[in-house]
Amino acid sequence: MVAKTFKGLEGVLAEELTGIGAEEVIILNRAVSFTGDKEMMYRANFRLRTALRILRPVINAKVKNEVQLYNAVKSIQWKDYLENRDTIAIDSVVVSEYFGNSMFVSQKVKDAIVDQLRDNTGRRPSVNTENPTLKINVHLAHDDLTVSLDSSGDSLHKRGYRVSQGLAPLSEVLAAGMIMLTGWKGNTNFVDPMCGSGTLLIEAAMIAFDIPPGVFRKSFGFERWPDFDNELYEKVTEETEEKKNIDITIAGADISRRSIESAGRNILNAMLGKKISISLKPIDDFIPPASGGLAVINPPYGERMKLHELNSLYTRMGDAFKRNFNGYDVWIISSDIDALKKIGLRTSQKLNLYNGALECKYHKYEIYRGSKK
Ligand SMILES: C[S@@+](CC[C@H](N)C(=O)[O-])C[C@H]1O[C@@H](n2cnc3c(N)ncnc32)[C@H](O)[C@@H]1O
Repeated sequence: MVAKTFKGLEGVLAEELTGIGAEEVIILNRAVSFTGDKEMMYRANFRLRTALRILRPVINAKVKNEVQLYNAVKSIQWKDYLENRDTIAIDSVVVSEYFGNSMFVSQKVKDAIVDQLRDNTGRRPSVNTENPTLKINVHLAHDDLTVSLDSSGDSLHKRGYRVSQGLAPLSEVLAAGMIMLTGWKGNTNFVDPMCGSGTLLIEAAMIAFDIPPGVFRKSFGFERWPDFDNELYEKVTEETEEKKNIDITIAGADISRRSIESAGRNILNAMLGKKISISLKPIDDFIPPASGGLAVINPPYGERMKLHELNSLYTRMGDAFKRNFNGYDVWIISSDIDALKKIGLRTSQKLNLYNGALECKYHKYEIYRGSKK
């Protein structure tokens, strides 16, 4: 199988896969491949925090023109995966000198599937891009074709707890990945003083309390497959137990009332109201618990603010860290390298990530207690 993710998160995803018992885990570009049975496929969907979708390849072939593409897809026994009254959606990624664009490839793949089922059964499945019975993923790199069944359906970042979003919410998968990249295991305090709609706080609480990311999800693609095994799926959903009493604080704040209201709604919806506290205040007034811990922050970037405002905000952030964040590792994601310099602290680690299409830096600052600045 192949688990897809964002650039920069392949390593944490591979660790997660090994942690849930996957075998032959290999890091690829924006993806990790692994082997496992149907139970592992269910578990991967239910438990992986940094995967966007889990693909199950059904064919790999060399194709250089549309006839070869059509024939390769037609050689798959589609009746094993689909009934003629089902609906399909095809998602193609094409990087190939042999094929024009992904829409053309999707069209050809669709033709091959519907022609085969119509020839065999007299009726053809139809296309439904919104809510298909089966989502099919096509990957075509040069002449290398892989057709996979998308066992996730909707992207796994759609956990199901978000009912409200602020101006620029982080993807849940990126938020979880950012926290896991720090190495945090949930046994020290976690704070986000610019929490927006609360994504980092919620993902942190789910990590700390061992709450699988799939618990709020309405459905996965595999539930509509003909071979769906409900008993096996239930077994997978029951194999983790939420941790009870952990002696840490998870706290956030934001300067915007609307953001705090939105975070409040999401936190309640994720049933984490007792585990996360939030307050309305600027970062200058935010005092994290004295025992130290981790701060992960997604401040505003250049796009929405004037340059001098942004520089002054980052300077104030740096001042707040020096004043109030002793004993904290502070990690900040930002696309604005010049603004990051205004923080005025030595960076102890620098990673590269993407927030949507924006290339970002993910920097770590260690704020020491006492005299060591
Ligand atoms: C990019 S958004 C954070 C989005 C959040 N990670 C999420 O997933 O929803 C940045 C947030 O910083 C807040 N903010 C801006 N200036 C602030 C300040 N001085 N103190 C605290 N929060 C501030 C904004 O109100 C906004 O909600």
